[in-house]
Amino acid sequence: MNYRHAFHAGNFADLVKHAALLAMLARRGDGPLAIVDTHAGAGLYDLNGEAATRSVEAAAGVVRLMGEDQVPAPLEVLRAAVRRANPKGGLRWYPGSPLLAARALAPGDSYLGFELRADDHAALTRALQGEARATAACADGFEAAAKRIPATGEALVLIDPPFERPDDYRRIVETTREVRRRNPAARLAIWLPLKDLETFDALLRDLEPAAGEGVLVCEARMRPLSDPLKMNGCALVIVRPPDGLADDLEAVCAWTVEALGENGQAKVWTLN
Ligand SMILES: C[S@@+](CC[C@H](N)C(=O)[O-])C[C@H]1O[C@@H](n2cnc3c(N)ncnc32)[C@H](O)[C@@H]1O
Repeated sequence: MNYRHAFHAGNFADLVKHAALLAMLARRGDGPLAIVDTHAGAGLYDLNGEAATRSVEAAAGVVRLMGEDQVPAPLEVLRAAVRRANPKGGLRWYPGSPLLAARALAPGDSYLGFELRADDHAALTRALQGEARATAACADGFEAAAKRIPATGEALVLIDPPFERPDDYRRIVETTREVRRRNPAARLAIWLPLKDLETFDALLRDLEPAAGEGVLVCEARMRPLSDPLKMNGCALVIVRPPDGLADDLEAVCAWTVEALGENGQAKVWTLN
């Protein structure tokens, strides 16, 4: 496993994914919520560290976000979370999905993040210290997800693989099917890179029968999808989206594409 999220932390795709996560948490129901994050990463990223300064991806992401006068409401929520991760001011630290989720939990909720790399799992454990309702596990998140959500009640499964392995797409579909079989009320948020449309369409076709009705798809195409070797954008597939989420995602994708893209396109639509 070569992928290190530290190279990508705070890029445009993180902004879309993390603003959407916070919007889903803001629109949750009343019951206790169990979150399982199948691919958690390190939890907190140093934008002054070697990986981030080599990639400079955050420059066209969170650095721009924090420098804007005004941004749409769901991105404002993310800005507040980024400020909280930088208590001394400035922009050195970028919080990943584990810390963002953990800090949005209410009493009775839980967060369980899976990270396979030993070094990133150690970092994740450190990042979650002091977050009473959050735990990290060094194990395969695809394998564990359905087993670790409650069979009833509110559950949210986040799926965000590195797409280093060709079977990541197949395992997304299998995990979605197993999660929904275990708890039909579970929501899922699945992150996908947008390179070419064939791969994306094939995944959606395979996912449709596993995901059930009313699946929401949001696409932030940062540039025309003419070079399939490039990450031309990103998409989120939301299974059982809460009411009102489509409006949040429209605002997030439109801002991201307009402010950070080049001749891109934002799309939010329902799969079935
Ligand atoms: C895209 S990053 C996660 C970023 C994180 N979700 C966030 O938004 O802050 C993917 C992570 O998954 C880890 N990983 C890869 N395969 C895994 C698996 N089968 N189970 C758990 N973690 C895995 C990688 O080491 C990497 O840190």
